[in-house]
Amino acid sequence: MSIHVITIDGPSGSGKGTLASKIAQHYGYYLLDSGALYRLLGLSLKNKGLLTSLDTRLTTCVDCALNLDIQFKSNTEDSSIQILLEGEDVSSIIRTEEVGAYASQIATIPELRAALLQRQHDFAQAPGLVADGRDMGTVVFPNAAAKIYLTASAQSRAERRVKQLQAIGLDAKIDAILANIEDRDRRDMERSVAPLKPAEDAYVIDSSSLNIDQVFQAMVEYIDSKLA
Ligand code: DC
Repeated sequence: MSIHVITIDGPSGSGKGTLASKIAQHYGYYLLDSGALYRLLGLSLKNKGLLTSLDTRLTTCVDCALNLDIQFKSNTEDSSIQILLEGEDVSSIIRTEEVGAYASQIATIPELRAALLQRQHDFAQAPGLVADGRDMGTVVFPNAAAKIYLTASAQSRAERRVKQLQAIGLDAKIDAILANIEDRDRRDMERSVAPLKPAEDAYVIDSSSLNIDQVFQAMVEYIDSKLA
């Protein structure tokens, strides 16, 4: 039986994560949140005191990436996913800005990206996989059946983030958030290894003026046409 792979790439804040999870549920496919892998490796290297000696102890860091002890446990009741690093629940901590910064730092190192490749390929199991990240369609799964690049203007992503923060009672300054988003975009797009860009054969969706349901519909129509 062939395994269908659907890739969803795009900048942070484009709504990729939410949509990848909805698409995986819709087709009954597995889900790979590749950003979580980078976050887990960043946290593990930090915990081992290796983050400050990436250059001088690269072989040890690569070993750590190859042997990263992680588990993704899905809860069928509320469809949440619990993430364990060496048996410890790190589901919340890996989402912090601090761990995001570790992930962004290690994501620039080709040897560490290469070490995570097999790990990502292992997620492709029947009947299929939805892989969410920055280089899923360009590097990790170049032969994917359907490739989507989901983007949105930096301004609209910043406005969404402000609303999310306000909804949980946090004060949010749009200027600072916008600057942060533009900074991250620059880092992700300008790095020499696996930079963020649409695959040549990707279907590009700009969600700046679309809601989640509209983006979901557009994705399903495109994926159905590719899987037919
Ligand atoms: O999607 P995210 O914010 O969880 O990703 C965390 C970091 O990992 C981000 O700085 C970009 C990097 N990343 C990457 O380089 N390649 C991927 N496929 C996924 C994430």
